[in-house]
Amino acid sequence: MTTQPLEKNLENCEIAEQVITPWDVKGEDEKGIDYDKLIKKFGSQKISPELLDRFTKITGHEPHHFLRRGIVFSHRDFDHILTLKEQGKPFYLYTGRGPSSGSLHMGHCVPFMFTKWLQDVFDVPLVIQMTDDEKFLWKDLSLEEANRLAYLNIKDIIAFGFNPEKTFIFCDLDYIPSCKEFYWNIARIQKCVNFNQAQKIFGFDETSYIGKVSFPAIQAAPSFSTSFPHLFGNRKVPCLIPCAIDQDPYFRMTRDVAPRLSLPKPALLHSTFLPALQGAQTKMSSSEVNSAVEVCDTANQIKKKINKYAFSGGKVSVEEHREFGGDTSVDVSFKYLTFFEEDDAKLAQIKGDYESGAMLTGELKKLLIEKLQGIVKTFQESRAAVTDATVEQFMSRSPKS
Ligand code: TRP
Repeated sequence: MTTQPLEKNLENCEIAEQVITPWDVKGEDEKGIDYDKLIKKFGSQKISPELLDRFTKITGHEPHHFLRRGIVFSHRDFDHILTLKEQGKPFYLYTGRGPSSGSLHMGHCVPFMFTKWLQDVFDVPLVIQMTDDEKFLWKDLSLEEANRLAYLNIKDIIAFGFNPEKTFIFCDLDYIPSCKEFYWNIARIQKCVNFNQAQKIFGFDETSYIGKVSFPAIQAAPSFSTSFPHLFGNRKVPCLIPCAIDQDPYFRMTRDVAPRLSLPKPALLHSTFLPALQGAQTKMSSSEVNSAVEVCDTANQIKKKINKYAFSGGKVSVEEHREFGGDTSVDVSFKYLTFFEEDDAKLAQIKGDYESGAMLTGELKKLLIEKLQGIVKTFQESRAAVTDATVEQFMSRSPKS
């Protein structure tokens, strides 16, 4: 089976410089993707300090450092979710993962770390969709292989620490044939969008498999609580979707069809991408050799990858660096620390020292290496405790105790 450059059409109508689709992410220069431009283009809302104040007032929690630092930067109707919380009304969380490889890299961790935090703060149900069918259609994978990768990934996902009492994880290839209500919602959504609209949103063309053209309805369906009768009966419970910004086209479509099905529009929180080691023009990707730190890497592999590949904003010689300082706006190690160093004061100190030249690239990299080694170690310990029985618990549809 061959895969096709689906994004071709979309690319043509993009502003020449940056391309963000569910299949391709390219920024304009080494400073990376212009996320403000993206907000304008997609028509979402920037997360404002006022919104974060309201979050704190209602939940009693400080915003996550992803929110404070603009890593989760944009939303749709998150204010509405806060109102529900304020009024004590129910809602649920929905996120997902396309199992394209056997394990996750640090970039994949960002939405899951954030979703785990949201579940802790709001204490609400969470559904996690594994789109093994999507990867079968888009990648050179058999159904068996895509489904197998999904189960491997589920173990990684569970290791983020989701609440087993309130989390339901499912693979499309298993759940769709077994849940009538889910499939009925898919069919309803499929009847709301014609080819012309799908082409405009996703860039399909006449060479796209018809499976790909209808897939967006499958990613849309979990946004509606009636797709999960074992969790919600036939109640229409609103949904909040934390996802990377490249998934927004799916949910623009979902929000468009929701009122026509008399269902609530899902709210969204969008995250930016963790840059590739080589530089911020593109996101971390498992298919690019050495662009990614994997959650299964050893401490030594992490050290080697960062030292060898992490794009540096430092100067060519120590003398020059001491005199002029490093450029944190292009330095990948610094960017990673903004994702993974939670301590604001420590991060500010590093920024100041690196920009003044007091800190050298090697020293900056050392801090990042230690940080990532720590996170990966904790993750691997938690992953080692996940058994087949744990997986079953998260995928079970019988009432949770
Ligand atoms: N399409 C996503 C991917 O390739 C997987 C996914 C399915 C998803 N549903 C989602 C991601 C909801 C975020 C939110 O990874």
